[in-house]
Amino acid sequence: VALVGGGPGDPGLLTVRARQLLAGADVVVRDRLAPHMALPLDVEVIEVGKTGGGPSWSQRDIEALMVERALAGNRVVRLKGGDVHVFARGIEEVAACLAAGLPVEVVPGVSSALGVPALAGIPVTAQGVTQSFTVVSAHLPPGDPRSTVDWDALARLGGTLVLLMSTARLAAVCDALLAGGRDPQTPVAVVEDGTLSSERVTIATLATAGQLAHVQPPAVVVVGEVVAARLDHRHPAVPAAPPATSPAASPAASPATSPDA
Ligand SMILES: C[S@@+](CC[C@H](N)C(=O)[O-])C[C@H]1O[C@@H](n2cnc3c(N)ncnc32)[C@H](O)[C@@H]1O
Repeated sequence: VALVGGGPGDPGLLTVRARQLLAGADVVVRDRLAPHMALPLDVEVIEVGKTGGGPSWSQRDIEALMVERALAGNRVVRLKGGDVHVFARGIEEVAACLAAGLPVEVVPGVSSALGVPALAGIPVTAQGVTQSFTVVSAHLPPGDPRSTVDWDALARLGGTLVLLMSTARLAAVCDALLAGGRDPQTPVAVVEDGTLSSERVTIATLATAGQLAHVQPPAVVVVGEVVAARLDHRHPAVPAAPPATSPAASPAASPATSPDA
């Protein structure tokens, strides 16, 4: 069995090893947010993610399926969205395979926590802006007794916050960060369907993001000053034509590049 992180959605972000394993697979057990890509016709693809609000497979049933197919002699690829161990229950699947005596390969993927902001032009760290980022699941809302997230501490921590699974709880999350003392003017970016052609980026502040009514999952929410450093490299503004009398550019006039760029 290979547990493969497929990246945030764009098949171009699959790793070389992921492609090799997919090319040799007999069965692909696929999550809903894993990338869609062309596979050989003889590969059996089993969708185990929730679609259209319908029921999803239980974690236990997914593990049983993987084990059953592998014990039957199939090369099984468990294709997950993003990275296998970022809010993905990957370790439970590794344990199930090992308990059944099956060898397991783990292939890391580009997590949406990093890949989605990067493609949207948002650096999660930037020199002189912030030197830290924290990735948080908001699957359980602030105040839920089952949650292990200390939202007050997160608010005080500063730096960049990257929130996953937060769309349905965005107002509560913003309120919790504001209550913890984070500046209401802190910029916020909501990136829906990141890396896909349907991607949508909305910029707000911590004071206003909770009122964004249109936000749909999947989305990555970035909170922090790095949002203001965003450069949309995919849609650069057309530079103004230089004045006709402008002297020719010389090497000495070139902008300086950072020594560690
Ligand atoms: C159950 S978590 C799995 C995370 C995944 N293992 C990873 O590393 O990206 C699912 C969450 O990832 C985020 N996500 C995954 N793909 C995304 C995408 N293409 N655009 C925006 N957010 C995405 C959303 O916050 C979504 O609710």
